[in-house]
Amino acid sequence: MIKLKDPIHGEEPFESLLYKRRSVRSFNSSKISFQQLSNLLFAAYGVRNNGPYKTVPSAGALYPLSIYVAIGKESLAELKAGVYRYMPITNSLELVKEGDTRRIIAISCLGQAFISKAPVSIIISANFERMKYKYGNRGIRYAIIESGHSCQNLELAAISLGLVSCPVGAFSDNDIIKAIGLSDYEIPIYVVPIGYEEKE
Ligand SMILES: Cc1cc2nc3c(=O)[nH]c(=O)nc-3n(C[C@H](O)[C@H](O)[C@H](O)COP(=O)(O)O)c2cc1C
Repeated sequence: MIKLKDPIHGEEPFESLLYKRRSVRSFNSSKISFQQLSNLLFAAYGVRNNGPYKTVPSAGALYPLSIYVAIGKESLAELKAGVYRYMPITNSLELVKEGDTRRIIAISCLGQAFISKAPVSIIISANFERMKYKYGNRGIRYAIIESGHSCQNLELAAISLGLVSCPVGAFSDNDIIKAIGLSDYEIPIYVVPIGYEEKE
């Protein structure tokens, strides 16, 4: 288990984050810090005030999402390349797959090559069955809505940390499931590459 850091407070006013947020598709090779990664994951699905509630709203507080982060070679000083699962309750990471998967993720996203340049990609997946158990087919809608909440938090957190991101929904589900090593009941909803912008 790799313990993440507590999130630090950003300086920028909220409205300024809204003005700055945009989808960026060019990343340079700069590493991101362990603190930045910790803040990003907390924003995406962290537990607030000792729980049980999280940084995003959830229908029935069922929390159907799982958050993974694919870290490339030399993307972070403190972590080796691999796919890690975010464990919100313990604010930690668990290594699920070793190696740099960024290229295969980019290919799985219908060849969107910019994804392989970002130091990290965060994958938001949803367990529809958990929601259907309570809400029937409407549960699928609730899980997808919740993914949007998580992704928006993530993007605004990225801006507050001086980073940029792009929400990616165009991918082969099966290829992403294989690349990340998702289980049968985890459906990928979003791939979100994050890093420093490559300015022209
Ligand atoms: C559900 C969803 C899926 C998206 N999928 C992709 C994608 O696969 N590739 C991509 O480059 N951008 C993708 N985007 C980003 C949109 O292209 C982008 O948000 C839109 O052009 C508006 O630009 P902005 O985000 O800079 O405001 C997606 C956005 C959403 C909400």
